[in-house]
Amino acid sequence: MARKLLVTSALPYANAPIHIGHLVEYFQTDIWVRFQKAMGNQCYYFCADDTHGTPIMIRAKSEGITPEELINRMQGEHCRDFADFGIEFDNFYTTHSDENRQFSEMIYSRAKEKGSIVKKQIQQSYDEQEKMWLPDRYIKGTCPKCKSPDQYGDSCDACGAHYQTTELIDPVSTVSGNPPVLKESVHSFFRLGDYEAALKKLFETGYVQKSVQNKLDEWFTAGLRDWDITRDSPYFGFKIPGEDDKYFYVWLDAPIGYMASTKNYCDKNGMNFDDVWNNEEYEICHFIGKDIMYFHALFWPALLMSADLRMPTKLFVHGFLTVNGQKMSKSKGTFIMARTYSKHLDPQYLRYYYASKLSGDVADIELNTEDFVNRVNSDLVGKLANLASRSGPMLTKKLGAMLGILDAEGKALLKELTEAKQEIVEAYETLNYAVAIRKIAALADLCNKYVEENQPWSTIKTDAEGTRRVLTAVLNAVKVLTIYLKPVLPQFAEKIEAFLGVAPLAFADVDTVLQNHKINEFVRLIERIGKEKVEAMVEESKQQTPQQTAETAEPQTTLAEPLESECDFEDFMKVDLRIAKIATASAVEGADKLLQLELDLGGVTKNVFAGIAKAYRPEDLVGRLVMCVANLKPRKMRFGVSEGMVCAAGPGGEEIFLLSPDSGAQPGQRVH
Ligand code: MSP
Ligand code: ZN
Repeated sequence: MARKLLVTSALPYANAPIHIGHLVEYFQTDIWVRFQKAMGNQCYYFCADDTHGTPIMIRAKSEGITPEELINRMQGEHCRDFADFGIEFDNFYTTHSDENRQFSEMIYSRAKEKGSIVKKQIQQSYDEQEKMWLPDRYIKGTCPKCKSPDQYGDSCDACGAHYQTTELIDPVSTVSGNPPVLKESVHSFFRLGDYEAALKKLFETGYVQKSVQNKLDEWFTAGLRDWDITRDSPYFGFKIPGEDDKYFYVWLDAPIGYMASTKNYCDKNGMNFDDVWNNEEYEICHFIGKDIMYFHALFWPALLMSADLRMPTKLFVHGFLTVNGQKMSKSKGTFIMARTYSKHLDPQYLRYYYASKLSGDVADIELNTEDFVNRVNSDLVGKLANLASRSGPMLTKKLGAMLGILDAEGKALLKELTEAKQEIVEAYETLNYAVAIRKIAALADLCNKYVEENQPWSTIKTDAEGTRRVLTAVLNAVKVLTIYLKPVLPQFAEKIEAFLGVAPLAFADVDTVLQNHKINEFVRLIERIGKEKVEAMVEESKQQTPQQTAETAEPQTTLAEPLESECDFEDFMKVDLRIAKIATASAVEGADKLLQLELDLGGVTKNVFAGIAKAYRPEDLVGRLVMCVANLKPRKMRFGVSEGMVCAAGPGGEEIFLLSPDSGAQPGQRVH
């Protein structure tokens, strides 16, 4: 029986354009939705712009327009980008809507009735000149721990410390440049802890992936804290009914936007909202990135519980995009806007490439620009498109554009292809697109081999009908591969459908065979990527102004990543940290991220593989003192045994910083 699904992607902030990081998520979801539809399931894909909050207000002000004008313009830009990248929502709405206001008020009042809302007096930073309250991200100052200047109000980029804004040394408001003052205000809090048991039960139903479950366990151990859902005026958002000049925090009404978009769609299409949203026949599936897990794994279901609404079925969490091993970076030209990308390159390349990397877990997704060019050119263009372009024109030009019938060899080839259906379906269903793509490429290899062996370009001169049989097999193979690829490459598929003269293909068509069938004129499917186009795109991205990218996201007052859970003193003491001198350092053949280090621990030598090759040259390291974990159990790695670990800070890649002692420390000394 056909399934019924309601699918969402996270709502993009209306203060910034779509970039290639966002696209990981919108592609992942769009591919899944297209797959479900192609399987004959009923599936709706709903989304909206996330329009409220301080950054939108500030950006509008800086442009001299109203927040409404800004969000309208942004919505236009977002929709255009989504359309260009083949992301097809059934409805793309806005959180600044009547539907959303009504649902937000309803959920809030039900939560209040349940006793899940409490008031507390809090102290908060305030900018007296701008007459506004300051979220942590709008305050900068010197880190209280490491004394690095120019750090944000909630955490330090230099040492990674998390702290309260009030602990910052010499804090200033980034809006006015003046020191903020502390002011008292009464806020409403949602008692998240009341829902702990119910949330745990929800997770038992498999609401989240296994890899996410660990993070949740940590959060439960750390304790669920009350959640501040109020913001003071001035704020761009919904006023809280019955309160004086208080607004709902953007993160309260944002997920409710999923419901608002659903309602808006239902109203436009003569459907009843409750028949969809509050109907257990529908699976509700949310796709999000790992940074907003806390909101979707905990707050969102708890809010729904407080209002006696149904639970979502699945939360699919993906990792973040890295480009050439690092976070997207403006100075490196890898903070690339969707718009900039589409100016230089075909969006289909990126859909294909991300799909080949996505595996349904929370791991980050790496876009390596060189690998991107190679993989698209060799697999997508070289194997898949080539199969059609070397066979199609021959049939239309020389054989009257008529397919013949399959012979035994052709049938055998097709059988191999159709038998892969279940595996590919399963890969899509479990978000393991990488497996699907790998399988499809392997099948294309088989088909290309079949073409090589049968040499239609030479048999055409002597044996027209034999050649027709071969090309009939090849084009039927192209048809099957197109069905498999269609969720990822809808445009490519459309071109092939037009060329084959068939109605839009779906998974059920895998087993039908085209014989004695007339096809149409061949059109070119896709071009190779020129490396210079990628370079031009990166160059242009380097030149963009902050206004063009506006990467400032809504500051999150709740730690998306709480500090690690506590560790007993005894446990800590088990770690034998020592000063070591790097005796030798060398590159590791076949591992461009690793260096092999010989550490001298005052007489004892340890062999260690460290992932620091992008940041350090071996010759610069010899003689240097570092800190190392000396009693780590030896680990067998691909390149040898690693007998310890050197301590370093930073996200990785080029940004990794070895920790070294002050002068005077000696190799072998214990670190306390
Ligand atoms: N507005 C919130 C979501 C509210 S949902 C009720 C938000 N917006 S966002 O524009 O910052 O991000 C939208 C989605 O894109 C999020 O799921 C986020 O994780 C994802 N990504 C944003 N940058 C990303 C990367 N660099 N890489 C992968 N995904 C990323 O969060
Ligand atoms: Zn610091």
